[in-house]
Amino acid sequence: MRVIVCENYEELSAKAAGLVAAQITLKPDCILGLATGSTPVGMYGNLIALCQKGDIDFSQVRAFNLDEYYPIKKDNEQSYCRFMYDNLFSKVNIDLKNTYIPNGETDDPVQECERYETLIRDSGGIDLQILGIGQNGHIGFNEPDATLNSRTHLTALTDSTIKANARFFDTYDEVPKHALTMGIATILRAKKIVLLASGANKSRVVSALLNGGINTSIPATMLKTHPDVVLICDRDAYSGARLGVDIGGTNIKFAVVDGGAVQYKSAIKTASSCEAILSDISSEIIRIMGEYHVKNVGIGTPGIIKKGLVTCANLPFDKTPLERLISEKTEVSVCVDNDANCAALGEITFGNTTDCSNIVLVTLGTGIGGGIIMDGQICRSNENIGEIGHMIIQAEGGRACPCGQTGCWERYCSMTALAESAEEYALANKDSILYHLYLENGNKLSGKLIFDAMDRGCPAANTVFDRFLNYLARGIESLANIFGPDAIVLAGGVTVQKDRLLEPLQKKLKKDVRVEISKLQGDAGALGAAML
Ligand code: F6R
Repeated sequence: MRVIVCENYEELSAKAAGLVAAQITLKPDCILGLATGSTPVGMYGNLIALCQKGDIDFSQVRAFNLDEYYPIKKDNEQSYCRFMYDNLFSKVNIDLKNTYIPNGETDDPVQECERYETLIRDSGGIDLQILGIGQNGHIGFNEPDATLNSRTHLTALTDSTIKANARFFDTYDEVPKHALTMGIATILRAKKIVLLASGANKSRVVSALLNGGINTSIPATMLKTHPDVVLICDRDAYSGARLGVDIGGTNIKFAVVDGGAVQYKSAIKTASSCEAILSDISSEIIRIMGEYHVKNVGIGTPGIIKKGLVTCANLPFDKTPLERLISEKTEVSVCVDNDANCAALGEITFGNTTDCSNIVLVTLGTGIGGGIIMDGQICRSNENIGEIGHMIIQAEGGRACPCGQTGCWERYCSMTALAESAEEYALANKDSILYHLYLENGNKLSGKLIFDAMDRGCPAANTVFDRFLNYLARGIESLANIFGPDAIVLAGGVTVQKDRLLEPLQKKLKKDVRVEISKLQGDAGALGAAML
């Protein structure tokens, strides 16, 4: 999607009219797809002026409108039929016989939709489709969760759309509750699409569109599957760049995201005092803000966040009001969340699961971390949610966990646990390659050494890893049973061994679960924080 950011609505209207005019000049008998609503009114004004000056000629143009309220009389002041007549058709030299709008007066809306869809298809298809965008991401009247393959159809308007449209009617009751609309598939068949967005009330949805993945809960994101879409928005609607910060025990990572792409990344060392960490982060934010038009900063931190206060065992944060302190120092709006939540948000927004609404991120590290996204939102019901590493996987005789329980998943499937299992097994198999590596490495094993031993055909190492996979599979099945996610994403050092991990793991799974390997790995936290 190409993005054109205009200074104001006037510039947006002129640019959009320029694209329509160019289309008519290139193909005088072109087919336009047109929208109503307040946004394209300025564009229509510009087109009228161009036509009246003789710069463009509508005489051979055919136009199909996106939608019409249902039921509504054509002469109702609020009908889209009337809107198009008043705002464009009556003021340019278009032949009214070449203008088509779904018939809101029909007794048979289903048949009317079929007729309209056929009419569009038989015309040869829309050359240029103009769209506005609703605050909930609707295009045409394809409301959230519209299906990708829908054709022209009768649809019920959501409450938020009815409320948004109420401004055009005298009372709420007068606002039609249904509409006939081109479907997403109809829209996506257009050869070229121009999407218009103006005003601060569109900035949230524009941000989701530009920075997020394809998600049926925001229908406009489906435009990302089309090869030729231009978004023209004004400064108020444009969400600006977002800066994500991921605080780790060793490094603090920064990432600037704009227009759905990573524009910049940097990292600094984590200082040892709370004051130094806050001052380092603030200075780096201020420096980056000097280069990028950053409107929001998100910060991911390990530890527990309760009422805005961060407490963390591995960092010098003890009920530290991180959000407030950094906002004060940088004078920008800051939002803080747990780092595992951020990483999950990063994965669903930029990783291998952008087509999902529900994922569980499982980070296999020193322990096991988890981030849960449901309906595109981070699950934050309380500060302990996502402690998936402490799910009991071995009910009897399980390994002791520092959390006080026994048999926790992270005592079998964290990288620490994998190394521990390998050490136990090496000691019990002193003729194994694994044991030799254990001795060579100062009586210690690591994930890397286990894989080295496997490369050298060590049966002991294969057994250790096979057991690890068994436990991993049982944990994943449990997560799938509890959350029913669209996918489970695995992250952490061991996942670089994708071939060794994924296929054997899938064979062990007794449930049909989609498992993905993290695409972003160490960058997921900062990218997700940017999206908070
Ligand atoms: C209009 C249409 C709608 C609007 C959208 C934005 O034909 O299909 O999708 O484009 O509701 O409306 P405005 O421009 O009024 O904010």
